[in-house]
Amino acid sequence: MIGRGIVRRSRDEIAVMRRAGRVVAEMHERTRAAIRPGVTTADLDRIGRDVIEARGATSNFLGYHGYPAVICASPDEVVVHGIPGARVLDEGDIVSIDCGAIVDGWHADAAYTAGVGTISAEAQRLIDVTDRSLAAAIERMVEGNRLGDVGHAVQTVVEAEGLHVVDGYTGHGIGRAMHEDPTVPNVGWPGRGLKLRVGNVLAIEPMVAVGTPDTDVLDDDWTVVTLDGSWAAHSEHTVAITDDGPEVLTLP
Ligand code: MF3
Ligand code: CO
Repeated sequence: MIGRGIVRRSRDEIAVMRRAGRVVAEMHERTRAAIRPGVTTADLDRIGRDVIEARGATSNFLGYHGYPAVICASPDEVVVHGIPGARVLDEGDIVSIDCGAIVDGWHADAAYTAGVGTISAEAQRLIDVTDRSLAAAIERMVEGNRLGDVGHAVQTVVEAEGLHVVDGYTGHGIGRAMHEDPTVPNVGWPGRGLKLRVGNVLAIEPMVAVGTPDTDVLDDDWTVVTLDGSWAAHSEHTVAITDDGPEVLTLP
């Protein structure tokens, strides 16, 4: 709507989102510790369910448009939204793990990409660049900046390394629902777009592929893969703008 900015949350609301973020961070820690050759993506989903249950939280993924799990597990050529199942992770693979949780009605959402055992230098570079692009975007989460500054930060890091920002998928506002306005593109023009204010909370999530920005969706209607089969990485945090600058809510 013209003239309206991004919704601003109170300190109390952000405090509850921080609690949801801590649950997601624990899902990250526990799944990360279990990633090794021979584990299945369903094993990792089980761990996610255990954390959510142990913390008295609920899943925002399970049942979302019929989604059947509490995490997304996206190996190698899978960009995002891989459904956990019987796929076995092998030495040298990479896997993106996306987790979310609801506490007292407030949502958090975050993802990381990890190697399985020893991985190639090129795979490690893909993960590192994706993480660095997210870190650069988070730094731009300061009152007075604009949404275009955030996307531009991602794009600049990724393109400088000759990698591709995946086309057609974005981050999002987050709060009472997992996906709220605005969409948060991983590309942008500096100084353009909605103005960022204290109290804004965004899920920023660069998706980066080695060979192409183009994707396809498999017949399960969820699994997003690169069109050329090249590997992709995904990194995401739920980030609030505070008086003191960015606060990542999805860290331990
Ligand atoms: N967490 C994803 C996102 O970052 C959405 C997952 S869709 C689901 O937007 F169905 F798996 F929940
Ligand atoms: Co998200």
